[in-house]
Amino acid sequence: MTVTTCIFDAYGTLFDVSAAARQAAAEPEFERIAGCWQAIAEHWRLKQLQYTWLRAVAHAHTDFWTVTGDGLEWALERNGFAGDTVLYDRLMALYRELQAYPEVPEMLAALKAGGMNTAILSNGAPDMLAAAVASAGIGDVLDDTLSVESVGVFKPDARVYDLVCQRFGCEKSQVLFVSSNGWDAGCATGYGFTTAWVNRAKEPVDRLPWRPAHIIPDLTGIPALAGA
Ligand code: LAC
Repeated sequence: MTVTTCIFDAYGTLFDVSAAARQAAAEPEFERIAGCWQAIAEHWRLKQLQYTWLRAVAHAHTDFWTVTGDGLEWALERNGFAGDTVLYDRLMALYRELQAYPEVPEMLAALKAGGMNTAILSNGAPDMLAAAVASAGIGDVLDDTLSVESVGVFKPDARVYDLVCQRFGCEKSQVLFVSSNGWDAGCATGYGFTTAWVNRAKEPVDRLPWRPAHIIPDLTGIPALAGA
């Protein structure tokens, strides 16, 4: 069936999650993380995501801003910066205004010009998503920003993916779902979306019962894939 609706994961897909640690490391005040910012970024992301899955299965939901802070606290302690509140505050502030990947504005504009519905579907809390969309300047090429907070559980719970067809009145088969998270793309395939996994880091495919329909190196090919 023809794609009418292109849905994007936010963190890691549209917004570069390593940008916060990378940017802080370049600031004179935070030279102390110049040699380990990649490890901090990696541990931060890993723990943030683990906490979403653990809270989902344990029925102990909290918002993504809280698990982002919890993940950062763990990552800082792991890298020898326990209790460094100045560094913590700076990294959290940078996380609110993450850079979008360079191809994002043009790619979204091409989808809109082709008549597609476009939206974010993210674990992010509405206020943090609004801040990231505003700082990336992509609000006018998105029809909506859908947050898991309206169902109170994290991805990959099916209630999150349900938000798309509820919002746009479309069929699952009309949705192209795009994520840089292999597990998100895999689980969204299992849900019934056509999926594209953005594999910038050339990671192996996640061993799940479902595989992404498409594997792409960045977002530039999305309008062609969607038929926009
Ligand atoms: C999100 C996380 C999973 O934006 O990247 O939903």
